[in-house]
Amino acid sequence: MMRMLCATVTFSFLLAGYALEVRSDATASVPDARTGIYDPSLDTRVEALLGRMTLEEKVGQLVQYSAGQPTGPGTGRTDYEDMIAKGQIGALFNISTAKETNAYQRLAVEKSRLKIPLVFGLDVIHGFRTIFPVPLALASTWDPPLVEQAARVAAREASATGIRWTFSPMVDIARDARWGRITEGAGEDPYLGSEMAAAYVRGYQGTRLDAPDSLAATAKHFVGYGAAEGGRDYNTTEISEHTLRQIYLPPFRAAVDAGAATIMSAFNSLNGIPTSANPFILRQILREEWGFRGVVDSDWESVRELIHHGVAIDRETAALKAFMAGVDLDMASSVYHDHLVKLVSAGKVPEARIDDSVRNVLRLKFALGLFERPYVDEAREHDAMLRPDGLALAQKAAERSFVLLKNDSVSGDAPILPLSDRAGRIALIGPLADDLSSALGSWAGLGKVEDVVSFRTALARRVGEQNLVHHKGVGITEGSDEDLAAAVAAAAKADVVILTLGEDGGGMTGEATSRAFLGLPGRQQELLEKIVATGKPVVLVLFSGRPLTLPWAFEKVPAVLAAWLPGIQAGPALVRTLYGESSPTGKLVVSWPRSVGQLPLYYNALNTGRPADKSDLTNPLGGADDTYVSRYLDERNDPRFPFGFGLSYTTFGYGPTKIDGSRLEASGLTAKLRDAAGRDEGVLTASAEVTNTGSRPGEEVVQLYVRLIGTSTSQPVRALKGFQRISLAPGETKKVTFTLEPDALALWNDRNQWVVEPAKVAVWISPDSAHGTPATLQILP
Ligand code: BGC
Repeated sequence: MMRMLCATVTFSFLLAGYALEVRSDATASVPDARTGIYDPSLDTRVEALLGRMTLEEKVGQLVQYSAGQPTGPGTGRTDYEDMIAKGQIGALFNISTAKETNAYQRLAVEKSRLKIPLVFGLDVIHGFRTIFPVPLALASTWDPPLVEQAARVAAREASATGIRWTFSPMVDIARDARWGRITEGAGEDPYLGSEMAAAYVRGYQGTRLDAPDSLAATAKHFVGYGAAEGGRDYNTTEISEHTLRQIYLPPFRAAVDAGAATIMSAFNSLNGIPTSANPFILRQILREEWGFRGVVDSDWESVRELIHHGVAIDRETAALKAFMAGVDLDMASSVYHDHLVKLVSAGKVPEARIDDSVRNVLRLKFALGLFERPYVDEAREHDAMLRPDGLALAQKAAERSFVLLKNDSVSGDAPILPLSDRAGRIALIGPLADDLSSALGSWAGLGKVEDVVSFRTALARRVGEQNLVHHKGVGITEGSDEDLAAAVAAAAKADVVILTLGEDGGGMTGEATSRAFLGLPGRQQELLEKIVATGKPVVLVLFSGRPLTLPWAFEKVPAVLAAWLPGIQAGPALVRTLYGESSPTGKLVVSWPRSVGQLPLYYNALNTGRPADKSDLTNPLGGADDTYVSRYLDERNDPRFPFGFGLSYTTFGYGPTKIDGSRLEASGLTAKLRDAAGRDEGVLTASAEVTNTGSRPGEEVVQLYVRLIGTSTSQPVRALKGFQRISLAPGETKKVTFTLEPDALALWNDRNQWVVEPAKVAVWISPDSAHGTPATLQILP
């Protein structure tokens, strides 16, 4: 799918006579023409139209407003209709019915001089009407094809209303659960994040961007937004170029490579320069290094906010700085509308730069086929929603997203989960069993509470109302003594208690919902402790948009399932999982903290000069002195559950990692090699045997990690480089083989280049980021 524009850069750093090929970031590469905006035939049409435009009309294409329900501070403008007819608006968002989009489109196509259609956008984040689990949960499936299909369903529904552009996927790496927007992304890992980014883009954009049911995707927020200091939304970020290149940029690069038509510049300042006025990222990296030809959209008023950042003294300077840095389209702040024409007349902005940005916008509109089909068929709208295949997919996605964190036995029997149909009388306790809006999650498009099948409803169907007693006990943030006591009394009479605790999916997760404390809100902890004190077997189903710090629960409750915010099929998915018709296969995409004091927390950390972990087999010095090591006096370093972790109803055993198929036996180098004459020397692989050691069939996500030692820049103690899903019958063993591509061994070095350097390499094939025994190999100079 990738077409390389320059010859691949070859670094000759490997074993005698051999060289690894590694892609350089400075090698411009673009997706092939099928993705639309890279189709060269569009350029002729773009130039012909551009040649007929006045400066005012050009600037109009760079202006975007929210015409519906705002998601941020308002612009104060309401005269959109007049502006559209005058050609002063290029894009609108937050409109969500076919009737409305057609009405606005008619103004553009019938009233404006050049008849340039509008493009309508919306935050279609985890579904449009069929609401899927939140993105953090979707990532926990480790199933990119499934995520691609979910994005396709969202595209099918949204496009039926005339929306042809989504502000998704959010591909921000997040290492801090205090940040509420951790729920909107794929977690902390750049490899998994890249796989997910590409899957969303493929799903939204389909095989042709000009198909009526395709949406242009937006990779956001460029870049580093998730590194907000203290996990406080919109806060400053400081990220070294090395970490930027290795951790924060790869998912954006993957989205661009998959053909993402737009990129959204972020709110945050990055190393002192706001990202919406940052030519290093917007021009040098995105355009020059990556060859991106799509639209750079600002975030909501992020152009005007340059004044708050202190890099602009007024709206005019904000327009000048954002535009010259590379923001094509001004979302909501009206600053381009008010100032760009004047800035060109004053000679501060060259008109040629305006032309470039207008080209990007027009190219997008041509690529979407909007000139041929500006309107949407209003009769199609209703039938496109909530189709059975989409609903089935939403249920499957929810089932695959659940992460089983703990599943102990009570009184020496089998583990408490899955529940048996003979479990007896069930008490369903807690505020989230029937909370429809929380199930919808943080950014639920046109999702409606009446579409949600709640956990309580589905459980009642399964066990019969006569076997189920349901009590909220307490609300999410408040509760009375009487209600709490009633719930405890109900639990005491039951055979099994299912507790549904956690966060308010709408109000406590997503944008502007940072939290300084990550325990259970309100009186839920008190409810939990009183229920456990009844001595009944308890299953805790945790609803949240982020990992929560629940040391008491993880110690005292025998079974805990992280259900995230599961979408409209929450109920059936949970019931099937708890009763074993679907065995959990989800794995964590974030390191689950023990306490807030550990944050930011991520598995792919650097080792430091004084690592505390003595069991680290790759640490060449062995354990250090106990006192003067990198640790807390009052907390462990390791997470409560590591990245990649998730239990199943069966168990899996891993054999040792082996380096296979190497001609270079002494080194066991795992990579695609060429000899000195450039001949392909075949592929080297790593493998391990995985066995289902339990008594139920199961699926396992097998993970591949590497560590590089002896390199010019310190590299993470482990970095994910691959994963595979396998199915195993009880007792069955499969050999799982990974090919280590050269890219997997590349790093950003001390001279600011992507290279493969001489190194000792540790390779793990393991069930998560904290277990397994590595094989080692050597990359020689
Ligand atoms: C968010 C973006 C979103 C935009 C438009 C902003 O507040 O940061 O993620 O796409 O609003 O709704």
